[in-house]
Amino acid sequence: MNRFKGKVALVTGGASGLGERTAKDFAQEGARVALLDFDKANGLRVETEIKNAGGEVIFIECDVRESSDVEKSTQIVFEKYRTVDFLIHSAGILQDGMIHKLSEERWDNVINTHLKGFFLILQACTKRWISYCQQNPKDTIAEYPDRRVITISSQAAEGNIGQLNYSAAKAGMLGMVKTSGLELIKYNIKTHAIMPTLIETPILGELLSKEDGKWRKYYSGRIPLGIGKSEYVSRVILFLCSEEAWFMNGEIVGINGGRLDKI
Ligand SMILES: NC(=O)c1ccc[n+]([C@@H]2O[C@H](COP(=O)([O-])OP(=O)(O)OC[C@H]3O[C@@H](n4cnc5c(N)ncnc54)[C@H](O)[C@@H]3O)[C@@H](O)[C@H]2O)c1
Repeated sequence: MNRFKGKVALVTGGASGLGERTAKDFAQEGARVALLDFDKANGLRVETEIKNAGGEVIFIECDVRESSDVEKSTQIVFEKYRTVDFLIHSAGILQDGMIHKLSEERWDNVINTHLKGFFLILQACTKRWISYCQQNPKDTIAEYPDRRVITISSQAAEGNIGQLNYSAAKAGMLGMVKTSGLELIKYNIKTHAIMPTLIETPILGELLSKEDGKWRKYYSGRIPLGIGKSEYVSRVILFLCSEEAWFMNGEIVGINGGRLDKI
């Protein structure tokens, strides 16, 4: 119940789906949680639900594509909780389109939310973490506060029809994780990406119900353990932030329901 007591988790996209589940699971394990999302109605709903369950939480309206928003929000979190231990980047959108019809706007929206958003929030947190380490030098890396960064990539990083923008963003995240894993470990900051398969959350819209459940049947048949639930993902995120994962850095972790082929 108190695995993360005294810790602080900042979750982008915390107003829905995987971010919501992860934020609630962190809160249940005693962490203080900051939800950053541009969906104010759902952000406030999740904030209330976590408070009602006895958790400590703050919702901040923030568009992760905007550097001024991200900087302001991060400052609020660091001021309120004094630090952040775990950064989870879960803000995401789908704006699919076949290559010959994909608009520049859809390309920009998806790349900016997933990739630029990750860059901005990673930078906002790391500059504060590094500044702390520089002001409080230690003899060994392990003596610095133990920070974890988890970004949500996707199986689509390996390619998916109609998702040129999304697969580019999700593949880009993998490079970012390897680079930050290399660059930031000297400050005891460990970065990982997870690559979930299809998980039932609001991002899918009506995909699973439309055409008389045709797509639900299709995906149920393609994923050996079935379409995923958000807790299957949040459990792995919490593991990657746990004491047990202390010796891991720069990992790309599949959460694939047993599915090893392409989407
Ligand atoms: N659900 C899946 O099948 C699946 C599979 C693999 C990866 N993912 C990834 O997991 C992450 C979470 O997705 P989800 O399934 O929970 O979707 P979701 O739609 O339930 O949640 C995404 C959240 O991100 C927020 N968001 C979107 N753009 C934002 C922005 N610019 N600024 C701030 N907040 C923003 C939304 O308001 C929403 O609350 C995404 O990166 C998604 O690509 C999802």
